[in-house]
Amino acid sequence: MKTVQDYIRTIPDFPHEGIMFRDVTTLFNDPRGFRIAVDQLLHPYAGMQIDQVAGLEARGFIMGGAIAHQLSVGFLPIRKKGKLPGKTIEQAYQLEYGEAVVEVHDDALQPGDKVLLVDDLLATGGTAEAGIKLIERLGAEVIGCAFIIDLPELGGRKRLEAMGMDVHALCA
Ligand code: PRP
Ligand code: ADE
Repeated sequence: MKTVQDYIRTIPDFPHEGIMFRDVTTLFNDPRGFRIAVDQLLHPYAGMQIDQVAGLEARGFIMGGAIAHQLSVGFLPIRKKGKLPGKTIEQAYQLEYGEAVVEVHDDALQPGDKVLLVDDLLATGGTAEAGIKLIERLGAEVIGCAFIIDLPELGGRKRLEAMGMDVHALCA
């Protein structure tokens, strides 16, 4: 039986030379692969209170949306700068290959909301850390960070755990 990892392909030198790009489109494209990834990402949070699922642009929207639907809770898109129409707060961060800014609407969460943060991949942890900071700046609490892939050699898990975060990933 294929595992989640078996549905993911690695493409060398994308988007820059030296980057081994983990391509999850092949996982999303497969009905069984997509379903088992959603189910396995949710598994550790069974019985926990989750008020909102937050997804990091862009592939975190696909997993996060499916997970929010499964939990019957709302979904918060954490977007790259310049995409949201209302009043926002923003957070800058460094990427494995570059620099970026993410933002959320300033009224997107209620103080005390318990939020599950979702993305496809954890590399340096810069993107997730920026998302966590935005959620916390709105007075909400991140109860877990769930990823399909963790690239441990890039230090993201250690970085998030040093912030007190609970990190869950399906494969390396
Ligand atoms: C990828 C990935 C994560 C982030 C992880 O997104 O989907 O969001 O990088 O890297 P980090 O842990 O080093 O921060 P990318 O920035 O490629 O954006 P995209 O999903 O919009 O293509
Ligand atoms: N984001 C940062 N590093 C990545 C990688 N190696 N593959 C896919 N997305 C990434």
